[in-house]
Amino acid sequence: MRTRITTPVPRERLAEDARRAIGDAVWAPSVHNTQPWRFGVHGARISVRADADRRLGVADPAGREMLISCGAALYNLRLALRALGYDPDVRLLPDPDRPHLLADVHMNPGRPPDGDIEDLQGRIRRRRTHRGGFGPGAVPDSVVRRIVVETQTEGARLIQAVDAHVEGALAALTDAAEHVQRRTPSYASEISRWAPAQRTRRRDGVQEGGYPREEPQTEPRFAARDFARGRDQGVRSPAEGSDRDAGLVMLLVTETDDPADWIRAGQSLQRLLLRADQFGLAVAFHTQALEVPELRDFVRTRFCAGRHPQALLRIGAVSDDAPELETVRRPVEEVTNEEWW
Ligand SMILES: Cc1cc2nc3c(=O)[nH]c(=O)nc-3n(C[C@H](O)[C@H](O)[C@H](O)COP(=O)(O)O)c2cc1C
Repeated sequence: MRTRITTPVPRERLAEDARRAIGDAVWAPSVHNTQPWRFGVHGARISVRADADRRLGVADPAGREMLISCGAALYNLRLALRALGYDPDVRLLPDPDRPHLLADVHMNPGRPPDGDIEDLQGRIRRRRTHRGGFGPGAVPDSVVRRIVVETQTEGARLIQAVDAHVEGALAALTDAAEHVQRRTPSYASEISRWAPAQRTRRRDGVQEGGYPREEPQTEPRFAARDFARGRDQGVRSPAEGSDRDAGLVMLLVTETDDPADWIRAGQSLQRLLLRADQFGLAVAFHTQALEVPELRDFVRTRFCAGRHPQALLRIGAVSDDAPELETVRRPVEEVTNEEWW
């Protein structure tokens, strides 16, 4: 049981709570599980930095997906601090001369958390990216509305694919992007770096236990990332898997397209993922088309009314027979400035 925070907060307690919150932050999703973040703890301030060595130079030259991933980690950090009784005060991109410093988060003493905060925080480490179909049955409208509103609270918006034609077009564009990427050697070598051939001791990347062996056959079919690259590996699905629906197809979009938007999109994304989890829903990502500039532009003008697409998601309920996918994370010590421990 945590005791109420009193001021001033002793330094040891700040350090311990910062470590716990960073321990939650790292469970954010990140493109190819690159985990492109670093944290610094300075008394009551936690800084969040992008680790540019982990940027995908081919798929993500501008670092857009890197910052979305860091934004998701920032959301977790904020939520974890609130669950610990702090009122985190965030300054986004506080220093224009240090673009990789994404946020300074001040651990101000706050109110004890309510049950909802604790519940959402408890889901951070359990949530997993889904890479399959969904069971039959639509997501209730009330749930869709709730998710849409919450996403918007963090600064990005969700646009739902309005009909089967839009869904079909987005699926076809995903397929086109996947073909383009598979025949581009630099892309192929980049994905090999992040999807190791064998099970390894690495604590990053998408490992063999993290994707299904057979590509899920949904209607329409959304091409999966080529993590296996022709090797017969991945998690086996039941022969007659019942999940065939593509689910609710959504685009996460922002009004403009600069680093602050990408960080906000990441925070929106993570809030959406945790809230969806609370409603018993899982989320699959298909961001290939947004990594091919011409296709991203097409998606923007045709399906986002000129807003900037940041992620393509499928949302739905998963049956009990769906395979369990594994994921890994680097330990807190590896991503935090050591002088503070
Ligand atoms: C910006 C972004 C783009 C992503 N794109 C894809 C994708 O196209 N296909 C996919 O299977 N997963 C995608 N993911 C999910 C990551 O692969 C996943 O978060 C990572 O492997 C860690 O797994 P976990 O989310 O289950 O913890 C994406 C995640 C982020 C943040």
